[in-house]
Amino acid sequence: MPDFNPYGELMLLSGTGHPELSEKIAREIGIPLAKMEITRFADGEFDVKIHESVRGHDVFLIQPTCQPVSDNLVQLFVTLDALRRASAARITAVIPYYGYQRKEKKTAPRDPISAKLMANIIELAGASRVIAVDLHAEAIQGFFDVPVDALTATKILARRVRERHVSDVVVVSPDTGGALRARRLGAILDVPIAIIDKRRPRDDAVEVVHVVGDVAGRHAVIVDDLISTGGTLVSASEALRAQGATGVDVVVTHGVLSEGALERLHAAPIDEICITDTIPLPDARRAFDNHPKLRVLSVAPLIAEAIVRVHEGRSVSELFR
Ligand code: R5P
Repeated sequence: MPDFNPYGELMLLSGTGHPELSEKIAREIGIPLAKMEITRFADGEFDVKIHESVRGHDVFLIQPTCQPVSDNLVQLFVTLDALRRASAARITAVIPYYGYQRKEKKTAPRDPISAKLMANIIELAGASRVIAVDLHAEAIQGFFDVPVDALTATKILARRVRERHVSDVVVVSPDTGGALRARRLGAILDVPIAIIDKRRPRDDAVEVVHVVGDVAGRHAVIVDDLISTGGTLVSASEALRAQGATGVDVVVTHGVLSEGALERLHAAPIDEICITDTIPLPDARRAFDNHPKLRVLSVAPLIAEAIVRVHEGRSVSELFR
């Protein structure tokens, strides 16, 4: 690292969103997490105590805003506020999973645009920059007026597809919104893509209307940004098998895995489900014992590398070339 940095020394802090991932990132970088405590007042409100001086330092606060999403968000806000008031030279909010991102536009009259609201509050609280992984829509970067480094786990997921040694692969997006994601993975693997025309008659129901592209006799690899109820992947895998796909793998960045999702996916015609560790598994032991199809890859080296590059003022986009 250069001897002089205008933003001071690199400091890492972690909220309680995913301490295991924060530890891994710290180990990759080779510095300890700074000492900090998040406590609750008797009425449940959060308080934060940062036990080391951050004055004049280049601070990276790691906090995915996953379940419990409201708690993790408020922790992020109050910690950013504490860092700003403690005169950190620069504060980067490292948000491996950005909660509320699926509400990035109005889809019905009088809808909120929650992804924009969260961006406003994160900035107001004190973030000078943001690092996020696989945002639901690229436009979310523009919801912030500070720089956003939008990382992607596509290369990590592509590596796993190669390791599987399956031939005649077709990469499939489970909805039209994910077409770009499929195109990128398809380009890395040099295979064709297909797109599913998906409808949501209700928030908790998914209907496949049409598979666009040739999947018969091919091993389908569905790529998506997140799994919540698992409904999208269950319907997609059934439709792909019905259209003659010889097998179905799933590669997804964020395992939100709402109640019952793993059980639903286990029963679906899916050979392997590969997610990353942007979000802690709900109950890691139980999930692995009961779901041998599930594989978790770490984004810690990717995030660590991005943090070091931001700190040193080096290109982050080079990571994805
Ligand atoms: C939708 O646009 C997203 O990319 C995911 O496909 C969706 O949010 C997954 O949700 P679920 O697992 O509940 O079907």
